Amino acid sequence: MTQRIALADQGEQLLADLEALSGLVDDSLPGWTRSALTELDVEGRHWVLARMKDAGLDARIDAAGNVIGVLKGDGSARGRIMTGSHTDTVLSGGRFDGNVGVASALEVVRTLRASGITLAHDLVVIDFFNEEVNPYGLSCVGSRALTGGLTAAHLRAQNQEGVAFGEALAVARVDPNRLNEAVMDLSDVIAYVELHVEQGPNLEAQGTQIGLVTDITGVAPFRSIFKGRQDHAGTTPMNIRRDAGCAAAGTVLAVEAIASEHETSRGTSGSITFTPDAVNVVNEAAEVWGEFRSPDAEWITHARERLLEAAHAEGAKRGVEVELEWLASEEPVPMSEPLTAITTQVVSDMGLSHTRMYSGAGHDAAFMALQVPTAMIFVPSHDGRSHCPDEFTESADILAGAEVLLNTIVEISGR
Ligand code: GLV
Ligand code: MN
Ligand code: MN
Ligand code: MN
Repeated sequence: MTQRIALADQGEQLLADLEALSGLVDDSLPGWTRSALTELDVEGRHWVLARMKDAGLDARIDAAGNVIGVLKGDGSARGRIMTGSHTDTVLSGGRFDGNVGVASALEVVRTLRASGITLAHDLVVIDFFNEEVNPYGLSCVGSRALTGGLTAAHLRAQNQEGVAFGEALAVARVDPNRLNEAVMDLSDVIAYVELHVEQGPNLEAQGTQIGLVTDITGVAPFRSIFKGRQDHAGTTPMNIRRDAGCAAAGTVLAVEAIASEHETSRGTSGSITFTPDAVNVVNEAAEVWGEFRSPDAEWITHARERLLEAAHAEGAKRGVEVELEWLASEEPVPMSEPLTAITTQVVSDMGLSHTRMYSGAGHDAAFMALQVPTAMIFVPSHDGRSHCPDEFTESADILAGAEVLLNTIVEISGR
């Protein structure tokens, strides 16, 4: 086994950073909540900015809200290496999703400095803004902006109250008219490597320590609006009702049926709203927000067509008008094989058990992969639980993942 670099402090500061981040959350909700587009998230990102500076990075927050820090290399090689993840959470989520990648990136920097290792390349550490889907149906906002993929159409996307995403950015101190300043020229970036918790059951079930990601799922989110007629629940016969709630419910079941076709296909109706939403009133309106996921872009196209048909059929049966809109999607993307080969070598040298795996969760890495060689490293999630308060990863697994990240970066930089 080749000599590998160990984390400074046995990773104590990494675990302390995770603990500190898990304290910056909305206490009124179960689990851990630091949603993007809130004051808490602004506070969280300023905390990350301060930690980057403490670690010796030249750090700033860019025009899209990304926290970016640079560790200078010795200038002997051209190009940059990037690593990071996100620190925003879903509502009542866990404290590891995203946070592990950011806290580990900081630990990599501290370890390099403590070990007296100067990379040949500059190392860029990033905490991407708003990775999780926001109320406007948009995810990976920071990575879309950085890679030039955030469009005017995204800024016009509305939440259920009819507010445009562009207007909501003010809370995050992001000026929608200056987003183009966040576009980064990535032509000299030789690698983006992201460490993340698996968020699924495979690694733990197999007793495997490290997952090497081959592909990231495609995600196709939608918003559907149903308009019927409000009526009395006791006097209106069933056959003349125009019940928007029933058309929405039929659509929710259609999502489930369509996505049950394949082992790798997924469909979720994560949000449903009825109006007026009262026990004794036939609902006049309903709204369902959901998504399909698959590693197969063709299947997603097919699922979209089937859902459109199904939703309209559910409406037609009941005289309910249906509008179905597809929101900002993510294409399925492969990770870089040459980069993953380096990670695989590092993991083997470290004597860790590992397996190649596909990611059913979306990641900023999917947007980075469109422009730069990208690899992802997964560590086990207890019971495969994630996007819930029960999300848990053992400290030893986090530290092993951070050490893989560290040694991968050192290897890429030829040290
Ligand atoms: C984000 O975490 C997603 O995969 O939805
Ligand atoms: Mn997530
Ligand atoms: Mn995540
Ligand atoms: Mn994600």
